[in-house]
Amino acid sequence: MKYLRASVTIFVLLVSLLAVVGEEDKPKKSKGDFNHGGHGGDHGGDFNNGGHGGDHGGDFNNGGHGGDHGGLQSDFYRDSCPALENIVQSIVWGRVRKDPTMPAKLLRLHYHDCFVRGCDASILIDPVNGDNTTEKNAIPNRTIGGYDVIDLIKTVLGQFCPGTDVSCADIVALAARDAVSFQFRKPMWDVFMGRRDGTVSNATEALRDLPSAGSNYATLRNLFARFNLDETDLVALSGAHTIGVTHCPLVFRRLYNFSGKNDTDPALNPDYANKLKEICPPPVNPATRVELDFESSRNFDSNYFSGLTLNRGTLTSDAALLTDPEAKSLVESYQDFDTFKKAFAISMVKMGSIGVLTGNQGEIRKNCRVINQNNV
Ligand code: HEM
Repeated sequence: MKYLRASVTIFVLLVSLLAVVGEEDKPKKSKGDFNHGGHGGDHGGDFNNGGHGGDHGGDFNNGGHGGDHGGLQSDFYRDSCPALENIVQSIVWGRVRKDPTMPAKLLRLHYHDCFVRGCDASILIDPVNGDNTTEKNAIPNRTIGGYDVIDLIKTVLGQFCPGTDVSCADIVALAARDAVSFQFRKPMWDVFMGRRDGTVSNATEALRDLPSAGSNYATLRNLFARFNLDETDLVALSGAHTIGVTHCPLVFRRLYNFSGKNDTDPALNPDYANKLKEICPPPVNPATRVELDFESSRNFDSNYFSGLTLNRGTLTSDAALLTDPEAKSLVESYQDFDTFKKAFAISMVKMGSIGVLTGNQGEIRKNCRVINQNNV
């Protein structure tokens, strides 16, 4: 009976969500668009993944995750909101279809959430009284996007699973996974759930805990180690820069004044440096975007690592991965996409369990932007 109810719910969802997300703008196959599991580009298949007991296996199987994931569970909402994963996937895939920059935005949102106070959705909290001191006001977070997608998911879940409190932190984790997975039409890693939402959000902590673009290898390794992420995680997760963009001010020094002598960073491939200079001529335009993975920034592939080996890492922190022998050999091995995607899946599960609040800790926010006591 329970399963019949779940099936009916899912059917109603299919019909309703089509109205929410639309079916237009189906993506074209892009270079390296892997089509695992025979979904054949049929977006009717968009609704077939997720849920529980679905096929999460195959190429992206992040097997071997027998650990406790910080107390998170794979079937946390099985009874309370069985259609959760289908709903989130439908909304996110609908948005990604319309906006191909969304996977990078939602992936970075999850990372910036987890690195500051753990994966507790503290990044979503809006300032109260215009004080501008919450995480989202910190400089590294000012170019983050995707907040409206999280709001939409929260609202739709409120309609389809009334009375069920799905945490904003779980929504962020699912949205990131589904956005990146859209290209493959199947989930790239399992999202374990049961996170609760934090009640504190502090811009200075974001500045302290997020590595800057200019970080060297030791700094990166130490910052990651604070969250129990090792060097394999550091290199694999840096592979997130296979998608998305940065802005000219963050590469300007490397291009024009590396050591204060109007010079270019010698660690940059000279041809690549010239390409970057064309995109970012002086005087610096803060709004101009630069692909992190040159000419491949909308495709989740291993081109980022191939580029790195040719000294085409865009940020200093990318290039830094070549300065340590162990990291360099990982970079080389991740040029093989199968190897990279397996490592990435494992590290994303680890990252998704950083400092999570569970049980009675924190709260389940009613509005992801507002802690409950302020939600009057
Ligand atoms: C290793 C340390 C890292 C550093 C220093 C770093 C730094 C940066 C910087 C400076 C940007 C560009 C921001 C801008 O110009 O607006 C960026 C973009 C991005 N980062 Fe990282 N990042 C790191 C790790 C990660 C990790 C672990 C992830 C995810 C798992 C990630 C995902 C992304 C994505 C997807 C973008 C592109 C965002 C977009 O296009 O909207 N980064 N990162």
